Amino acid sequence: MVVLHELNYNNNMEKYFFAVINDENQFSYWEGEGIPKGWKSVQSFYTKEECIAFIEREWKDIRPKSLIKKIAKIGNQTIQSFSDCLEKHELMKEVYTKRYLHDMDSWSNYDYLKDCVNLFFTKYASVLSQKSVFEIGIGSGISSEFILKNGFKLTGIDVVEHKNWKKLKEFYGESFRPMVEDILLFNPQKENYDIVLDNGCFHHFEPELYLRTFNKVQDLLVDNGYFYLAVFEEPKEDLVQGHIEYLDGGKRRCKFFTETEISNLLSANNFELLATERVTRNFDNVKTLLCIAKKKIK
Ligand SMILES: C[S@@+](CC[C@H](N)C(=O)[O-])C[C@H]1O[C@@H](n2cnc3c(N)ncnc32)[C@H](O)[C@@H]1O
Repeated sequence: MVVLHELNYNNNMEKYFFAVINDENQFSYWEGEGIPKGWKSVQSFYTKEECIAFIEREWKDIRPKSLIKKIAKIGNQTIQSFSDCLEKHELMKEVYTKRYLHDMDSWSNYDYLKDCVNLFFTKYASVLSQKSVFEIGIGSGISSEFILKNGFKLTGIDVVEHKNWKKLKEFYGESFRPMVEDILLFNPQKENYDIVLDNGCFHHFEPELYLRTFNKVQDLLVDNGYFYLAVFEEPKEDLVQGHIEYLDGGKRRCKFFTETEISNLLSANNFELLATERVTRNFDNVKTLLCIAKKKIK
């Protein structure tokens, strides 16, 4: 409580105690007359004890009004920026939907996506006895086909259903279980997977959504399960943080990561980075950085 000095009390005057309040909604008590500037009386009492009991009852939030306002502003900004990033996420998804619809999914024709999964499955995943994979961003099924061909069961997710899924389903039956859903909205059931694979989806996400995505991956994996994450690599070796490029009229964000950056991100989200590999795109020298990580047991 902000305690005001006592004054203006003389023996002829009846003694009153005032519960007083200032512009910051802070309470205090005042004995006698002449309440100082900046304070106004809320109620008067015959005893100090009654006055203090009243203040204790009424002064529920001791933060000054200006501080409460400031906190509310920061809170609103956070909410605002999170809703902004969800909006951007929706625009990015729309780009993919349109591109697949008009056969403009140029990446589906590139060999490097196949080379990346090939490298991972021959070098790292062949030792696994259990063989279940969850793929984030199946797309036209380039990676999926390779995984299925190698005897793995594959559940996968994408925001767009691709015409190739039907053919894969006919050929691989129950081993291939594709779903149309946003990974961020997906609620993993009890089933856990040995490998979660992202071959070019995550690096298009807004940074505010990284934590949510990593949490989904954690939920999907068995303990010690592998997380395969392929991102664009920052070409400038002296940088600690990679750059960002925007495609499709600014709607598709492409983040280029340095190894340190992605390694820190994985480790902060309960993954241990076991190895990295690089695959270079033959048409523009952009490198894909393959991160092979393990889910840490908490
Ligand atoms: C660059 S493509 C890679 C496709 C695929 N991995 C391949 O090997 O062909 C990225 C894919 O992620 C999908 N995607 C984007 N946002 C997604 C999200 N929130 N949830 C699931 N998939 C998403 C896109 O629709 C697209 O198919």
